[in-house]
Amino acid sequence: MKKKIIGVILATAMVATLFTGCGSKTEEAAAPADTAQEEAAPEAEDAAPAEAADAADATAEAAGGDLASKKVGVCIYQFSDNFMTLFRTELENYLIAQGFSKDNITIVDGQNDQATQTGQIDNFINDKVDVLIINPVNSSSAETITDKVVEAGIPLVYINREPSKDEEQRWADNGWNVTYVGCDARQSGTMQGEMIVDLGLEAVDLNGDGKIQYIMVEGDPENVDAQYRTEFSVKALTDAGLEVECLSDQVGNWQQAEAQQIVANALGQYTTDVEVVFCNNDAMALGALQAIDAAGRKVGTDIYLVGVDALSEALENVLAGTMTGTVFNDHFSQSHSAADAAIRFINGEGNDNYIGCDYVKVTQDNAQEILDMVK
Ligand code: BGC
Repeated sequence: MKKKIIGVILATAMVATLFTGCGSKTEEAAAPADTAQEEAAPEAEDAAPAEAADAADATAEAAGGDLASKKVGVCIYQFSDNFMTLFRTELENYLIAQGFSKDNITIVDGQNDQATQTGQIDNFINDKVDVLIINPVNSSSAETITDKVVEAGIPLVYINREPSKDEEQRWADNGWNVTYVGCDARQSGTMQGEMIVDLGLEAVDLNGDGKIQYIMVEGDPENVDAQYRTEFSVKALTDAGLEVECLSDQVGNWQQAEAQQIVANALGQYTTDVEVVFCNNDAMALGALQAIDAAGRKVGTDIYLVGVDALSEALENVLAGTMTGTVFNDHFSQSHSAADAAIRFINGEGNDNYIGCDYVKVTQDNAQEILDMVK
């Protein structure tokens, strides 16, 4: 399983998140994040599935084959989230495949409420689970969560919503059994922008004013993925020398219905000036597509639309040409890495404090391949 230690400058992202909306936001965030990118240099590398499978088998075997008796507590920030549904389903299947008993895996729904999730964590601690896998509701609550879980002597694997860099450093400094598993969202944002760049200015600049006018629909700022995808999608355009104009930038909280409303309003206000719709995830891109259809616009002809995650429905739209592209947010790799890290902790081994993975750009050319994989 590929691992990378990535120096993510989260503090910068958190500050920039406060300035949601068009205007100077991109410029403000650009300078420090450039530095972050140089440090992190998220690169797509070839996946090595056979190697990963061998490593996973070895990890499971090293646990002495007694995983069936170990209790795993899994906290998901919200069950109704499409992407986290794929993630938790794969996580459970993979844990069982590694030897855990289904009865000993408990997965709970935080219902997007930190107080609810904190209560669930307390219950898992009282139940003396052997390991906790947590997708926090508020990544800013990670310090409090970490303290109580470490105090209880339970190893902890965070997923999907990355705690701050300072928090990760604290785990390292104290030698705690705590890690984070996730992908670097800067890479997904860059890929979204590149898909637009690859179409060429002539195709995208539908009103012929020499600029790319776009609207941005952001995810919940509690996940730094939202900030980074927003920033790096636009940066890919400006890095390619394109002039951009942000017409609207609003938070759709990763939700299809919210995005549909936001995009319907923006299309009503800016009409044919809207050339590109960037959505931080596919659920919101699907909502955007409903609004685009309702406005009588046609993706690929008079507007362009990109998302992230590679949900099946989005991939079908990419194949049909009704979405320009998406980015595969590899829930297989992330859930397997999280489970492998949990097994290593149970086995008394350590983990790096950050375990990364790569995104994959998806256009009409490879959408079928990714669809075959996710279906
Ligand atoms: C995914 C979103 C999801 C969010 C949940 C992101 O990485 O792209 O679809 O809603 O995680 O935190």
